Amino acid sequence: MPVEIDFPAPETAPGAVADWLAWATAALDAHSDSPRADAERLLARLLACDYGALILRRDEALESALVLRYVAWVERRKLGEPVAYITARQGFWTLDLVVDSAVLIPRPDTETLVEWALEIARGALKNEASFALADLGTGSGAIALALASELRNVSIVATDYSPAALDIARENAQALPGVNVEFIEGSWFEPLAGRSFDLIVSNPPYIAEGDPHLPALRYEPHSALTSGPDGLAALRAITADAVAHLQPGGRLLLEHGADQAGAVQVLLQNAGFIDIATRRDLGGNARVTGGRRP
Ligand SMILES: C[S@@+](CC[C@H](N)C(=O)[O-])C[C@H]1O[C@@H](n2cnc3c(N)ncnc32)[C@H](O)[C@@H]1O
Repeated sequence: MPVEIDFPAPETAPGAVADWLAWATAALDAHSDSPRADAERLLARLLACDYGALILRRDEALESALVLRYVAWVERRKLGEPVAYITARQGFWTLDLVVDSAVLIPRPDTETLVEWALEIARGALKNEASFALADLGTGSGAIALALASELRNVSIVATDYSPAALDIARENAQALPGVNVEFIEGSWFEPLAGRSFDLIVSNPPYIAEGDPHLPALRYEPHSALTSGPDGLAALRAITADAVAHLQPGGRLLLEHGADQAGAVQVLLQNAGFIDIATRRDLGGNARVTGGRRP
């Protein structure tokens, strides 16, 4: 769909980085909860620099080709497209990941799952020479690649049923020298027949169909967001089959919605898990629940 671009009037068009940031911040004010941050992220990406460098370059004139792209990007943001899809990048953990509309934009909340998984893996590696880990529904590869970037002597397999998502995950992996993740296409445990792990992690879709927040997430793949009428279909499927793919003593960690911790604890109990616990994310929401196979 062609995007109508509302260019600043020539007589008022500013020229330097600081002026364009001020213009974009004002233009986004009615369309974003974070207009200044969005304006900065868009321009920093166009200039291939970070926030610190952007501020140091505040008096630099923007060349016209960049101005045209910046104005077009601001227009896309005004229509509601997330900054990550416009810039094709999202920071997660220590990584700068490629994203497109085939993958969920990795969220800071998911770093709670990464931190917990790292604790478990590092604890085990004090006594064991190796550790096997699976990430189900890897999307951009965020969780698997964050873990792989931190751990040595760990075999990591990551699955997704979306071939387009796996293409992005593989692209992200290729940009990380020394990081080794095996990506496999298929639904949850279906491509992992006969394999078992010390730790299984997943951030599956967990929003209920019809949830009122979905329109605000319309740019992200529906299949990465929703999971049945109560949002628990994927969490049910994964907990039901996880024990068969865990070593004795192995752990399962699941990200879920802020109001789903009780339901996920019951799913884990019913599947025979012990040592069930829930952790909160940085916002204080109950976000990740895990258990251990006896
Ligand atoms: C909430 S996104 C999480 C993506 C990524 N792990 C992250 O944390 O940013 C859920 C992912 O699960 C994948 N997915 C949905 N249903 C699936 C299924 N039946 N089997 C495997 N993957 C599935 C989606 O394609 C999507 O990439």
